[in-house]
Amino acid sequence: MLILGIESSCDETGVALYNTDAGGRLVGHALHSQIIMHQAYGGVVPELASRDHIRRTVPLLRKVLADSGCSLGEINAIAYTQGPGLAGALLVGAAFAEGLAASLGIPTIPVHHLEGHLLSPLLSRNPPRFPFVALLISGGHSQLMCVTGVGEYQLLGDTLDDAAGEAFDKTGKLLGLPYPGGAALSDLAERGCSEALRFPRPMLHSGDLNFSFSGLKTAVLTKVRELGPMDEQQRADIARGFQEAIVEVLVKKSLSAVQECRLKQLVVAGGVGANRELRRQLDAQAVKKGISVFYPEFEFCTDNGAMIALAGALRFQRATSIKPAGAFAVRPRWPLAELTP
Ligand code: KG4
Ligand code: ZN
Repeated sequence: MLILGIESSCDETGVALYNTDAGGRLVGHALHSQIIMHQAYGGVVPELASRDHIRRTVPLLRKVLADSGCSLGEINAIAYTQGPGLAGALLVGAAFAEGLAASLGIPTIPVHHLEGHLLSPLLSRNPPRFPFVALLISGGHSQLMCVTGVGEYQLLGDTLDDAAGEAFDKTGKLLGLPYPGGAALSDLAERGCSEALRFPRPMLHSGDLNFSFSGLKTAVLTKVRELGPMDEQQRADIARGFQEAIVEVLVKKSLSAVQECRLKQLVVAGGVGANRELRRQLDAQAVKKGISVFYPEFEFCTDNGAMIALAGALRFQRATSIKPAGAFAVRPRWPLAELTP
């Protein structure tokens, strides 16, 4: 069966085709990032995001079909991101998917964006097996989930304020880096001296699996004000100190979560999962505890259509009823733990 996946929840338009036959494989995918367009405003402008999704979806679909040698008539169902995300951006993908599916006479599969992230390591050559603990770290979320199967997600810990990616982006802004700051801050940190500056490790000893990153951002702000005009090395040292603090908290809490659930596998998903220092530290600490860590391929860490096609395919294979194309609603706010198998 051939499943088309469409992602449009924020500032990336993603389109992908996933074939469920013979264990399943990604047939093709294409992505357009709006980052350059939003950079001029220092953050995502929702109305511009929606309009750009309208412009990009059809050309991306044509490209995926041409590259993979497939035709519209071969598609069996269309998966799309129903939420959470920006309402207008979600509506573009949902309306396109429902309209195309209605015209082709095939069903649709509304997908939870975070379920897509969470299952994205299954696209790797060395995929994890259920059950596992998932660390979901994106621009809007920092959650630890116990995952026992598709749709079986128990929330173990959540952020009380800023998400990890949000903390990277806001700190990047304080250091004069372009939006989104995560990857640029991580590059800058590589040139910083370890332990030159030590920032607080928020909630490290809170006794639960929750996170809080807004205090860390404030500590950086205080340091930036104290230093006044900074040279390149001082900026790099701040980036390094910030990254060391956030990585230590993420690593310790994630490994504690795996041990509390008496499991042996950790899956890291979402844009911040691309962070090299996080991967280095996690790999080094996990091996000492006999825990295996799984990451999506770098290209599937940030938002993409492949993870939506995959999540849609897994849902479609398990579905007891199919949703005919037509009526739909998007869910800009949608807790992942509300999902059922
Ligand atoms: O999952 P994602 O693409 O979109 C959301 O669903 O939010 O995540 C985007 C976030 C941004 O905050 C971005 O700065 C962060 O992921 N990010 C990184 C890195 N690459 C992207 N954060 C830290 N280090 C990176 N290398
Ligand atoms: Zn995302």
